[in-house]
Amino acid sequence: MALLTAPDIAAIAPQERALLINSLPGYKSAMLVATCDAMGQTNLAIVSSHFHLGSSPPLLAMILRPSTGESERHTLHNLLETRCWSLNGFSLDHAAQAHQTSAPYPKDQSEFDACDFEAEWLDEFGAPFIKGSPLKIGCLLREHHPLEINGTHMIIGEVQHLQYPVTAQRGDGGLSLSDMGLVAVAGLDTYTQPSAGLRFAPADTTSPPRQL
Ligand SMILES: Cc1cc2nc3c(=O)[nH]c(=O)nc-3n(C[C@H](O)[C@H](O)[C@H](O)COP(=O)(O)O)c2cc1C
Repeated sequence: MALLTAPDIAAIAPQERALLINSLPGYKSAMLVATCDAMGQTNLAIVSSHFHLGSSPPLLAMILRPSTGESERHTLHNLLETRCWSLNGFSLDHAAQAHQTSAPYPKDQSEFDACDFEAEWLDEFGAPFIKGSPLKIGCLLREHHPLEINGTHMIIGEVQHLQYPVTAQRGDGGLSLSDMGLVAVAGLDTYTQPSAGLRFAPADTTSPPRQL
């Protein structure tokens, strides 16, 4: 087993350290965040820092890196300008295209075109969706917290629009992500499609785990 302490970690070259630390949270959801600016210029970027903040109201959050001298963050700029964005799930078939959206395209070049995705506008929602995506989530900006610790931004959105195949919804209301073929990502480069896995009833202290 490798054993690293804080000084060892600090001594790792920046790129290598980024890949190492990015692997630590394990498998994460990868979704494409679609936005447009006030002039209607569309943008698409893969993001894997999504988390569930609450169900009532339905809140999803994500962490976005800050703009720096050498890199503009178009997703951050657009969603602060228009106060809305969409999250779009994708399957392994689209992993290469989805990964390509992480390249630093200039603002006037939409990743929809550069990475071969088709934009779709739904119910007059202010941000585009990806046509054909199995899971489409439209969010409105509720809170924006620049984080003091490293300059990243916590973005909290309320779900306003939700679209998924009827067949993916289970009897208990949850969605079968494997039925939709959604990918998970490890680190910044490894895409995988999880299987249905094992499901359990809510745990309590008086009975053993019950598999569903
Ligand atoms: C697998 C993967 C996950 C990523 N997750 C995030 C993330 O959670 N937050 C973020 O700010 N950037 C993330 N990125 C980087 C963005 O995709 C990248 O910076 C992109 O160029 C941003 O595009 P934009 O400037 O059009 O918003 C990720 C990249 C990859 C490949």
